[in-house]
Amino acid sequence: MGTAPCVLVVCGTRPDAIKLAPVVLQLKEQPSVETVVVGTGQHREMLDQVLSVFSISLDENYGVMQKRSDLARLTSAILERLDDTLERRKPAVVVAQGDTTTTFVASLAAFYRRVPFAHVEAGLRTPTIDRPFPEEFNRRATSLLTTLYFAPTQRAANNLRREGVNERNILITGNTSIDALRIALQRAPKPPHRKGRMLLVTTHRRENWGEPQRRIATAIRTLLQRFPDTYAVLPMHPNPIVRQVLQTELEGGRASREPKRVELIEPPDYLGFAALMAQAHLILTDSGGVQEEAPSLGKPVLVLREETERPEGVDAGAAILVGTEEERIVHEASRLLQNDAAYHAVAQVRNPYGDGHAAERIVAALIERFAPPSPSGRGLG
Ligand code: UD1
Ligand code: UDP
Repeated sequence: MGTAPCVLVVCGTRPDAIKLAPVVLQLKEQPSVETVVVGTGQHREMLDQVLSVFSISLDENYGVMQKRSDLARLTSAILERLDDTLERRKPAVVVAQGDTTTTFVASLAAFYRRVPFAHVEAGLRTPTIDRPFPEEFNRRATSLLTTLYFAPTQRAANNLRREGVNERNILITGNTSIDALRIALQRAPKPPHRKGRMLLVTTHRRENWGEPQRRIATAIRTLLQRFPDTYAVLPMHPNPIVRQVLQTELEGGRASREPKRVELIEPPDYLGFAALMAQAHLILTDSGGVQEEAPSLGKPVLVLREETERPEGVDAGAAILVGTEEERIVHEASRLLQNDAAYHAVAQVRNPYGDGHAAERIVAALIERFAPPSPSGRGLG
């Protein structure tokens, strides 16, 4: 271990790894800090996929993925391992991103060890603590334990101010997802040419398990029947609960008389998925990250959720919150598929989530606060 202050970055799932990757790449360029990257392994294959795309290697990998989506076991497994790491490495600051179990537990472990915690993508909120479950709780609990808040947007910063967070600990940075997308688009492969208009669909949220996901699948079937020049591509989240519904509802020709018009595929890596988004005509998703990326690519996005912690896209007109009722999904998608003017009005909206330089701002602030040139200048806020 070197003498430079240690910045300990904790990631565990596909989205937090993607959004931390630009931060890690920038941190690694800084000689004044020692950057240690820990992977909790909350996700296994999907985390490996992301890290390999960005050529990031883990200094420690806990590999705690659970067979079932068991939050209590996941929480305690990560907490114990992380506590050992903090005791050994004595970081100057712990950094994590977003609203996953990995993120919340990283903030808790740091708090127990009295280590400052920096939260990337701080301040997103929905009105109800269990919608989305458990992410809204994770966000709020993490905020209570955070020292330095990297808010992606003005609105996120306002949420934090309203909760009494000290102004000097908030920095509006833009969302690092746009930084990651910028990197990916330079390297994204060209997907095979397909005829027709692509509906790109992803769904994995806990609140959509079961019936809502069934209704989403039914809506896709209806859209394919109504618009013969469309086809649907569904990269499937590895969660078996999600896969089972999608496969039952959409495989084996149930989707239409031409089964090839539905492609249920293994989740492409981040570069492959960026290429698919670029090729898509319309994106339907309950994913948080995809809601941010679609407007950057000029793709209208229908958000398959009742409420979103990312209202900026909806307010700007780039995203439409459609929920999970079949009728509403079909109605909104049909409008965009039928009416070119309506489609282009949505597609041309400017991305409200960032300029692709969030990681630079985050790293500059981390260094200023936790590794300033003169040791006497160090403060913990
Ligand atoms: C987690 C996050 C969610 C985020 C999502 C992104 C929590 C509580 N939830 O949800 O906020 O939107 O990641 O994808 O942190 N699995 C694999 N291989 C993988 C990943 C998952 O097999 O690489 C399977 C496992 O059976 C696992 C299940 O998927 O138990 C679900 O993973 P889990 O982390 O519990 O929840 P997500 O639904 O992925
Ligand atoms: N993504 C990916 N492959 C896929 C689907 C999504 O690489 O098959 C990327 C997507 O571009 C985005 C991130 O994964 O950056 C979003 O992750 P996810 O939807 O799992 O989580 P959420 O954002 O909802 O927390």
